[in-house]
Amino acid sequence: MTKIRWGILSTGHIAGQFAASLAHIPGAELVAVGSRHAESAQAFGEKYQIPHRHASYEALAQDKDVDVIYVATPHNLHYANARLCLEAGKGALVEKAFTLNAGQAASLIALAREKRLFLMEAMWDRFLPHMVKVRELVSQGILGDLRLVTANLGFRAEDNPQSRLLSPSLAGGALLDVGCYVVSFASMLLGQPDRVAGVSRLGRTGVDEDTSILLGYPQGRSAALTCAVRTNSPQDGYVIGVDGWVHLHPPFGWSGRLTLHRAGQPDQDINAPIQGSGYAYEAREVSRCLDLGLLESPVMPLDESLGVMRTLDALRQQAGLHYPEEVENEN
Ligand SMILES: NC(=O)c1ccc[n+]([C@@H]2O[C@H](COP(=O)([O-])OP(=O)(O)OC[C@H]3O[C@@H](n4cnc5c(N)ncnc54)[C@H](OP(=O)(O)O)[C@@H]3O)[C@@H](O)[C@H]2O)c1
Repeated sequence: MTKIRWGILSTGHIAGQFAASLAHIPGAELVAVGSRHAESAQAFGEKYQIPHRHASYEALAQDKDVDVIYVATPHNLHYANARLCLEAGKGALVEKAFTLNAGQAASLIALAREKRLFLMEAMWDRFLPHMVKVRELVSQGILGDLRLVTANLGFRAEDNPQSRLLSPSLAGGALLDVGCYVVSFASMLLGQPDRVAGVSRLGRTGVDEDTSILLGYPQGRSAALTCAVRTNSPQDGYVIGVDGWVHLHPPFGWSGRLTLHRAGQPDQDINAPIQGSGYAYEAREVSRCLDLGLLESPVMPLDESLGVMRTLDALRQQAGLHYPEEVENEN
């Protein structure tokens, strides 16, 4: 496997999870971390035994020993941070939601393609064994013609207006934090919707705390999705065809548990457990792509990440939810 020298941009919660997961990937070497604060970079570097510890994201991007950078900052910063990496000639794996909006996604994708650099959205669950199994069941026609997709993904975060999840200036809200998962799930199965309808409840900070989503596709297929950051929800999903359905057990199949139901047959439990860390799968996909000389993942294509952002934009438009930088740009 191609040796990949990784850098990690930020020292937050998910950056730590990802750093730990790299230890289990052959050929992956965690070389550098960058933080806004020297002490954070030092502490993170110490904890995960990372040799290069940079006191700025710029210094990380310029590190000559790094090939690909994992961007794990709040949503509003993904675009600028990933752009910084690409402009410095580094590939980038960018946390979800890919960017703030579709305009940013399109611009980032154009830059990566122009510079012939690897770029992928870190939609980690797309690479997990249960999602592979779902795609197999669908492509083998076991469910019959696909008609409906449902998914509910929500949790009750603490009511902290400054938090990444609720602050408008950090692009908080359910749509960008967990809505991207359910919209991406529907996109993986049904493609790009031609009709998008949503109802959002905006909380006191002005971001959506929960949203219901109805997506329409050619031939009358549809998806009914919900997402929430201030309400516990069932965290489940159903993929429904004319001959049967598959149920993703809470939390959203991430435990590897599925049930296959087919008319007239006993339900079949399917176990597709995660081996090791769930975040290692997306990192392995980066290695696989680079091994094959691919600059984009066929499993999580950039055009699909762009499509997901377009759907999220349409939903935010209907909710009247615009982030501060979007309002500034309009003025
Ligand atoms: N894949 C998953 O399962 C998963 C789970 C959780 C989150 N995520 C995604 O990962 C990203 C980060 O989420 P997280 O939960 O890790 O967030 P977090 O714990 O708040 O960490 C975010 C990090 O971003 C950096 N940062 C830069 N500017 C910041 C600012 N103005 N305010 C706060 N932090 C700032 C900070 O690192 P420095 O101080 O070192 O610069 C901070 O530690 C988000 O896109 C989120 O949606 C993914």
